[in-house]
Amino acid sequence: MSDTDLAAPADRLGSVSAGAALELRGVTKMFGALAAIADVTMTVRPGERRAVLGSNGAGKTTLFNCVTGDFLPTSGTIRLFGEDVTRFPAHERIRRGLRRTYQISLLFGGLSVADNVYLACRGVSRGRFSLLRPFRGDPLLTRAGELIEAVHLTAARDALVSELSYGQQRQLEIALALAGAPRFVLFDEPAAGLSPTERAELVSILNGLPEHIGYIIIEHDMDVALRVAESVTMMHNGRIFKEGTPEEIENDPEVQELYLGDGHG
Ligand SMILES: Nc1ncnc2c1ncn2[C@@H]1O[C@H](COP(=O)(O)OP(=O)(O)OP(=O)(O)O)[C@@H](O)[C@H]1O
Ligand SMILES: [Mg+2]
Repeated sequence: MSDTDLAAPADRLGSVSAGAALELRGVTKMFGALAAIADVTMTVRPGERRAVLGSNGAGKTTLFNCVTGDFLPTSGTIRLFGEDVTRFPAHERIRRGLRRTYQISLLFGGLSVADNVYLACRGVSRGRFSLLRPFRGDPLLTRAGELIEAVHLTAARDALVSELSYGQQRQLEIALALAGAPRFVLFDEPAAGLSPTERAELVSILNGLPEHIGYIIIEHDMDVALRVAESVTMMHNGRIFKEGTPEEIENDPEVQELYLGDGHG
């Protein structure tokens, strides 16, 4: 294990790292006898863009599920913008600006891109707009248009989801996650299954997000991760194996060994 964690400030009896967007302390999630994640401690600053890498079963999605509230951790604490949300239900975390995308697509095929994004915006708005259909001048319609633009789908705005390419569907999922002004987003393998061209599009979309939006992206492809993240956490067998800048991680002999060991199966 590395000793880079020594940079963490000494525990001040439950005090919080000043201004962290997300702070995990000793988070463990057991499934029976299996520790899907074990003693995970990490801090992500507001606006920081972090990649989480690791082989299949390393615990990456479980980490997300604990942060979002889909799973209750077995032990440890999770703070979101300074607030202990460890036992909060998922919707309370959403209210505080947390969003996620899923490893597997959950879109409705029968709706258009524009309708999907509009409904997502309505779903997270405070219910001031009770009309079923958008009305002229509806600010949510404007917002939806901005989100569609942000994920490079303006040319496909009237297409049905079922008519989109797989890559476009993944772009739409990002737009849905961005509805309602999130402050922190968890992206679970948005590049999985994408062609090289679609990957380049994804990189450009992520790099074009407003600066105040921080995220964690789970990514198997080191090349993508290195282009969209300023920091990298490597997981292995449920534990944090290494943390560092993309350059440090890419050049780390232990990381290279791990990657060459399992990445080509
Ligand atoms: N709901 C669950 N019930 C039981 N075991 C689970 C559950 N979810 C995950 N696990 C187990 O926890 C471990 C970590 O799984 P997780 O899905 O977090 O890995 P991952 O890093 O996201 O992998 P992948 O790259 O394949 O998506 C695996 O051994 C998995 O089988
Ligand atoms: Mg996963």
